[in-house]
Amino acid sequence: MPVYLVGGPVRDVLLGAPTTDLDFVLEGDAPQLASELARELGWHLVVHDRFGTATVSHEDCHIDLVTARQEVYSAPGALPEVSPGTIHDDLARRDFSINTLALPLFQSVPQPIDEHHGIDELGKGLIRTLHPLSFADDPTRMLRAVRYEQRFGFALEIESKAHLRHALASGYMDAVSGDRLRHELERILAEQHPGPALARAIDLGVLKAIHPALIDQTPILSLDSRSSGDNHSSSMLYLAALAYPLSSQDAEGVIQRFNLPGHWAKVVQDTGELRQLVPQFSSATLPNSEICQLLEGRSEEAIAAVSQIGRPGVVSQRLDLYLTELCQVNPILDGDSMLAMGVTEGPLVGRILGKLRTAKLDRLVESEEDERQLVRRILAGREDV
Ligand code: CTP
Repeated sequence: MPVYLVGGPVRDVLLGAPTTDLDFVLEGDAPQLASELARELGWHLVVHDRFGTATVSHEDCHIDLVTARQEVYSAPGALPEVSPGTIHDDLARRDFSINTLALPLFQSVPQPIDEHHGIDELGKGLIRTLHPLSFADDPTRMLRAVRYEQRFGFALEIESKAHLRHALASGYMDAVSGDRLRHELERILAEQHPGPALARAIDLGVLKAIHPALIDQTPILSLDSRSSGDNHSSSMLYLAALAYPLSSQDAEGVIQRFNLPGHWAKVVQDTGELRQLVPQFSSATLPNSEICQLLEGRSEEAIAAVSQIGRPGVVSQRLDLYLTELCQVNPILDGDSMLAMGVTEGPLVGRILGKLRTAKLDRLVESEEDERQLVRRILAGREDV
């Protein structure tokens, strides 16, 4: 059976870049070979019958097997009609020339197939679509283009850029489902450095075509300027940076448009709300207990992002203090100790514990004995709760 190593892994080997996933195209039944492979390796198998594809995976390692296919798009943004094809059809349906390289593994000394000038464009550092309607067929490729461009330090080739602008002006993005957009956004956010791709997507108007409020790069650039070197950046910090300038209404719109899952949606909502609280965090005095009151229950990623996006100063100090210390502060006494001290079982126990925590945060009590004295004062009616 003719088997080819294709796309990403061939590109990455030629670039000397690390690659983790292996993609194979077969002129034959990929799901069947995949199920035999999964059985032999004892790995996990997922089959997508509609596209004749299958993934065999174990922990972080994924092997994709694809039946060579041709694709016809009935309308911009629609999923393609798929039918079996040759390796040549399969390479011609792809997004960019740098992803069209194939290595025929059945040859004794495999020579790369390069029918779309992929090797030349890898050398020139260009992201080029294979035909003028590529972005119209599949507008998610606009997000892919900025991802590859910024990951490799390449440039979008000039005609491809014109096709991208035409696809944007034609409103093709509107036809794409939220799930497909989120999938590509997720892949940008999973890059080692998501900032440049997001900033570029804003610059080109790609994100604006997804939601009209996604137009401000400033928070992303300021996050980039404060992120440390080669460390892998957190996806959610960058999602928060996208959300930072949004009004509550626009934040809801973005959540709907990308069909964001609960955890992501919370990051988006909390970031916008925290930005609106910045004046309160800037006030000359703010007891620790009030910092906690303003931040409790909020997403940690949103708090960290707001801290890093703003200018270094009292706001970020307070947000960081919450994340590193205050959120872990708890009284030494617990519910059982309250009961043993004569507090009646019921809501009063929780209220006293809350009061103890506030006192501890504001450094009014420190030792266990301080806490006991406070409880005694409350029980004696000398202190409100
Ligand atoms: N592809 C495409 N259009 C898309 C998505 C994928 O043409 N909207 C093609 C690309 O040519 C790509 C292949 O399908 O090479 C596999 O897609 P994917 O797994 O997303 O790309 P990889 O190259 O494996 O991953 P990465 O680029 O992130 O390393």
